[in-house]
Amino acid sequence: MKSFKSLKVSYIKNKHSFFLENNNFRQLKNGEVLVKVKYSGINYKDAISVTGKNRIIKCESLIPGLDFSGTVIESNSKNFSKGQKVLATGSGLGEAIDGGFTEYAYVSNKILIHIPNNLTPLSAMQIGTAGFTAAIAIDKMILNKQKVNYGPILVTGATGSVGSISINILNNIGFETIALTRKINSLQYLEDIGAKKIIKFNSSMNKKILNNKFFAGAIDNIGGEVLDWIIKSTKDDGNIVSVGMASDSKLNTTVFPMIMRSVNILGVSSTNYSSNRKTVWKKLSSNYKPKNLNKINTQCIELKDVLKFSKKIIAGKNIGKVVVKIS
Ligand SMILES: NC(=O)c1ccc[n+]([C@@H]2O[C@H](COP(=O)([O-])OP(=O)(O)OC[C@H]3O[C@@H](n4cnc5c(N)ncnc54)[C@H](OP(=O)(O)O)[C@@H]3O)[C@@H](O)[C@H]2O)c1
Repeated sequence: MKSFKSLKVSYIKNKHSFFLENNNFRQLKNGEVLVKVKYSGINYKDAISVTGKNRIIKCESLIPGLDFSGTVIESNSKNFSKGQKVLATGSGLGEAIDGGFTEYAYVSNKILIHIPNNLTPLSAMQIGTAGFTAAIAIDKMILNKQKVNYGPILVTGATGSVGSISINILNNIGFETIALTRKINSLQYLEDIGAKKIIKFNSSMNKKILNNKFFAGAIDNIGGEVLDWIIKSTKDDGNIVSVGMASDSKLNTTVFPMIMRSVNILGVSSTNYSSNRKTVWKKLSSNYKPKNLNKINTQCIELKDVLKFSKKIIAGKNIGKVVVKIS
């Protein structure tokens, strides 16, 4: 085979386009590895990139896909050899460098990780960037002294990828979870993946400067007025991790919860995560490993369906995680 197929996003003269392209194989650069991609996944940022909702790529044209798993075909690095199973997440993939929506990926050994024992190329992408992010968020809360006996953790955007995996991991390590969702018909799904209580937000809940203390911490995927309500409703010393902005990037709030209840607001950047990625993946393959991956991964699609499912994700209509099977 002389060429391979990739999806591409491009901005020629600032006009967005998304198409399938043939690429030629080339020689490896120093430290580079050629991977036959087996699975990728559609992350929220990929959906934005593919549909052109906002510009994600930092150059004129790029292969989208924040993550992938597969097999090493050829290596110019002493750390990787032919036949090994590998994965990569974030680190600029699909944003600053070519990502995972491709049959073959040329990737620097610096961002490649051996798939840990106990995970496969499929389960690694069922977890993907969403699970990696959920694990960092939970680690940050625990590092900041969040304890199971302080009370339940609220998870917003609960039927989404980060939300679903966060609920599942928290449940596995003993935390009670409250799922906040707009999809009230997804009660069974949320219970099946570990949520103990399911709630829906409405703006009338958010009138006071401080609300009754409702939960001991939160993982928030949607931002905006929901995040404001969370900050006002968290128990003393509770940790809130701001992960996403599926609803709104703005936050209009007061400092009262921080100065009267010692509420902590933490952040996560899975793209620019500077600590050891291998350590996080080790946890995701052991004590953090989601128990209900087949329930969370509700769809496994092909490259040709990436646009259709990206539109569904942007419309907020998807449930669970979308894995892309490439070979
Ligand atoms: N900081 C990081 O490193 C990092 C890493 C990964 C993702 N993220 C961000 O985290 C967020 C969630 O990512 P994801 O992969 O879980 O996305 P996802 O699978 O599409 O899930 C997002 C969920 O948010 C809710 N939602 C969507 N649109 C909404 C709207 N307009 N208003 C209110 N709720 C809405 C929906 O849940 P319900 O219908 O159940 O309410 C949806 O399922 C995104 O903003 C993403 O960019 C950040």
